[in-house]
Amino acid sequence: MESEGETPRSSEGTGRILPPRESDWPGFFISFEGVDGAGKSTQVAALAGALRSDGHEVLTVREPGETAVGELIRSLLLRPVPAPLDPWAEALLFVSARAQLLAETVLPALMRGNVVIADRYVDSTLAYQGGGRGLDRRSLRALHRAACGDVWPDLTLLLDLPPPAAESRRRAGQLPLDRMELSPEAFHAAVHRTFRELAEAEPERIVVVDAERPAVVVSQRIWAVAAERLAEVGGLAPTVRPSA
Ligand SMILES: Nc1ncnc2c1ncn2[C@@H]1O[C@H](COP(=O)(O)OP(=O)(O)OP(=O)(O)O)[C@@H](O)[C@H]1O
Ligand SMILES: [Mg+2]
Repeated sequence: MESEGETPRSSEGTGRILPPRESDWPGFFISFEGVDGAGKSTQVAALAGALRSDGHEVLTVREPGETAVGELIRSLLLRPVPAPLDPWAEALLFVSARAQLLAETVLPALMRGNVVIADRYVDSTLAYQGGGRGLDRRSLRALHRAACGDVWPDLTLLLDLPPPAAESRRRAGQLPLDRMELSPEAFHAAVHRTFRELAEAEPERIVVVDAERPAVVVSQRIWAVAAERLAEVGGLAPTVRPSA
């Protein structure tokens, strides 16, 4: 098995713009994670609104998708398919969409000093393709390093909701379930467990939020965490604050 040793960050010869090291950007990168139905989209919208009211430039992105290529990949990934999708084929499609999203949208926004809020990011790959599908997590991390420049969020909010509660929320929504949502119960349980493991391993980056509470209570907790973290990094670069 390949070691998790240093992967050079050089883009020499590839013609790629070199992504900065984590937090080298003047912006602030937040991701939301959690099982399907945990309330990510609800909370992304709430936090984006609160940050905008506070004067921040905010870009929200949803994974997979957002770019033209990413939306094509999203439609491939989420619709039911006649033959089971190979787990590595699935992982590579998610990572492919993410590489494009970073290059086209996320990194330029972070370099402009924006707050970027991602509705799912690399931890979803580790939880779904690693925990859920059983792919080796070290290999998935190596793939992230190679394809996505090892770009990690400044802050990840894990909306923690036990699978049965998530299931009843999804069903209450009465929307047609997509291919991932149609996976068996054991899959969702493994995804949930892996998210919690990731949070335990990286408590500085990943903050676990009890997502069983009413949405407005969850929003208040998230706002408190985000405001504190932004204050810790000195808010945003002065160039991106609205002039008085
Ligand atoms: N704290 C909450 N309490 C009760 N219901 C909630 C809460 N947050 C969101 N919901 C409801 O649960 C459903 C799923 O929420 P939402 O779409 O935000 O979750 P999600 O994590 O984005 O799901 P998906 O992964 O499927 O995109 C929606 O009907 C939403 O209104
Ligand atoms: Mg959503």
